[in-house]
This record gives sequence, structure tokens and C-alpha cells, in this order.
Amino acid sequence: MALPSEVRIVEVGARDGLQNEKEVVPTAVKIELIERLAAAGLPAVEATAFVSPKWVPQMADHAEVMRGLTRRPGTRYPVLTPNLKGLESALEVGADEVAVFGAASEAFSKRNINCTIAESLERFRPVVERAREAGAQVRGYVSCVLGCPYEGEIDPAKVAEVSKALYEMGCYEVSLGDTIGTGTAGKVKTLIDTVSAVVPRDRLAVHFHDTYGQALANILAALEEGIAVVDASVAGLGGCPYAKGATGNVATEDVLYMLNGMGIRTGIDFDAVLQAGWFISDQLGRPPAGRVSRALRAKCEAA
Ligand code: HMG
Ligand code: MG
Repeated sequence: MALPSEVRIVEVGARDGLQNEKEVVPTAVKIELIERLAAAGLPAVEATAFVSPKWVPQMADHAEVMRGLTRRPGTRYPVLTPNLKGLESALEVGADEVAVFGAASEAFSKRNINCTIAESLERFRPVVERAREAGAQVRGYVSCVLGCPYEGEIDPAKVAEVSKALYEMGCYEVSLGDTIGTGTAGKVKTLIDTVSAVVPRDRLAVHFHDTYGQALANILAALEEGIAVVDASVAGLGGCPYAKGATGNVATEDVLYMLNGMGIRTGIDFDAVLQAGWFISDQLGRPPAGRVSRALRAKCEAA
């Protein structure tokens, strides 16, 4: 299959990236990060999660983040909404895109959102309906598509089943999450072949964590399978609090470097993303996790 000439990057650093941080990041820093990423031309900047503050304390300022943000026309600011309570709070502060998040693993579903896969799908149905009535688009996530921290191997047919359910209930796009980053390129191809039998390829996105250093290879495999939407996290921030040891998402800078090198368009200002990554890394007091960002920082410091 021909590689896409253009790729849409969904930036998840301010949500997936920060949700795992132990120290509470000040709301103003989150807002500055989101605004810098949007100014860099990222078409979608996931901003926060309307989840329970008892479960994920770092996201407790979700409403303040959304209220404090100066939104750029044309940029989308999706937020996570696991249930109607989260959705109503998100709509109150003007969210125009939300995401429901399920899993292909029963054990992970239970740990992450405290219900079975079937219960989660029943819970998401009214969330999707209500969001769409209110004019908000809904994205669907499926976690553990290439492995689960509790169950190990996951059958691609299970991923296809959950993806199909999300797509059919009205999610405009389904993002396939390698939550713990254990997948390899051959498995990505099998996965996409299986899932694309029930959800069109142009409605699929990939969301790869880089825990085992496989994310870029896996993204390339997905591009070769006709996928043109890639989730990434500035500075390689991230991890899931309910998947122990799961480190950051693939770094946005690494993805951009690869795509730019391949002549694939994104419409994103690489230098502005790099600066945003250094900004948040300095705020967190540690070097960026992404390789490209580290390499260019070292080069800058040496100059
Ligand atoms: P629960 O305890 O079963 O919920 O949690 P409940 O409905 O029984 O309510 C319990 C309490 O939570 C009540 O408060 C509710 O009001 C409150 P209390 O009466 O005890 O004071 N509550 C809420 N508060 C704020 N916002 C809400 C909300 N809902 C209930 N929306 C629940 C169920 C889903 C809420 C919980 O499990 C939860 O918040 N989980 C979120 C976990 C999470 O955020 N994980 C990380 C994101 S997923 C991810 O990172 C993977 C992804 O990146 C893809 C990949 O990498 O694979 C997307
Ligand atoms: Mg994730």
C-alpha cells in the first residue's frame, strides 16, 4: 500500500503525557503547553481528562484548563470523558470534541475504568449520543491492542470487536493504543489488517507508547498499512497510571523528524514543537524522553 502523502498528528502530551506525573503540574503551565502546541500548528491538542480526581488527581483541574485556554480557530482540543458525568462537565466548559476510552482487555478495563468491556460499551453509548446531540465529535480509544499488562497477549479479533462497537456507536475515529509499548511491526500489520475489516482504514489512528523502543517502527508499519493519523506526545511524556511501567507515548518530535525526512506533510512547525517540549521538560525538571529532542538539545548546548 502507498504511504500517505499527509499525516495528521494528534498531540496527547498535555493529557496522556501529564496524567502520570506524580507532582501536580500547575494549571498555568498546562495551559501554556497546550497553547504552544496549538501555535505550532498541531491540528488536535488533547487538553485534559474529565475523569474522577480520585482516580487521576493530576487531571483534577480539567475545567480550569479548558476555561483558561485561549483557543485557536481550526485547532481541536479533545478531552477524555469516561461517562455522562464527565461529558456534562466537559460540555459545560465548551468542549467540542471528546473521547471515550475502552480496552481490548477485561483486566485492564476493570483496573482503568472499573467496569467490564461490555459495561463500558453500554456506558459509552449515551455519552456518544449526548455529545453528538450537543454538536461535539467523539473519538474512541481502544487500549491494550498489542498486549496487556495483566493478560499478556491480546487477540486482534477482540480489538476489532471493540473498535467496531465504538465506530458503530458514532465515534468518528478509533485510536488503537499500544498502552504498554510491547508491540512489534509484524503484529501491527496483522492488527490493522484485522481491524480494518470492520472499521475503514481512514477512520483508524495509532497511539503507540514507546516503552520498548518500537514505536517509530510500529508507526511506519501502520503508515504502510494505510493509516494516516498518529497520536504522539511532546517530549515523549506520558504513561498510564493503570499500566505500571508504561512509559511515554512516542515523542511528537521523533514522529515529525521521521515524517519530514520521508517528505510526508503534517503542516506542523517542528521548531515550535521542539521549543514546547523543552519548555515542559524544564518545568518538570528533567530532560525530554524523545531521542530527537535530546539530540538537538545537546547540539544546541554544544554550540
Ligand atoms: P467509579 O469509581 O466506578 O465511578 O469510577 P462511580 O460512577 O462509581 O463514581 C464514584 C465517584 O467518582 C463518585 O464520587 C462520582 O461522582 C465520581 P463520590 O460520590 O465518591 O464523591 N465520578 C467522577 N468525578 C469526576 N469526573 C467523572 C466522574 N465519574 C464519577 N467523570 C471512573 C469510574 C470511570 C470515573 C474512574 O474509573 C475513572 O475516572 N477512571 C479514569 C482512569 C484514567 O483516566 N486512566 C487514564 C486514561 S486512559 C489511557 O491513558 C489510555 C489511552 O491513552 C490509550 C492507551 O494508551 O491505550 C487513552
Ligand atoms: Mg496512552
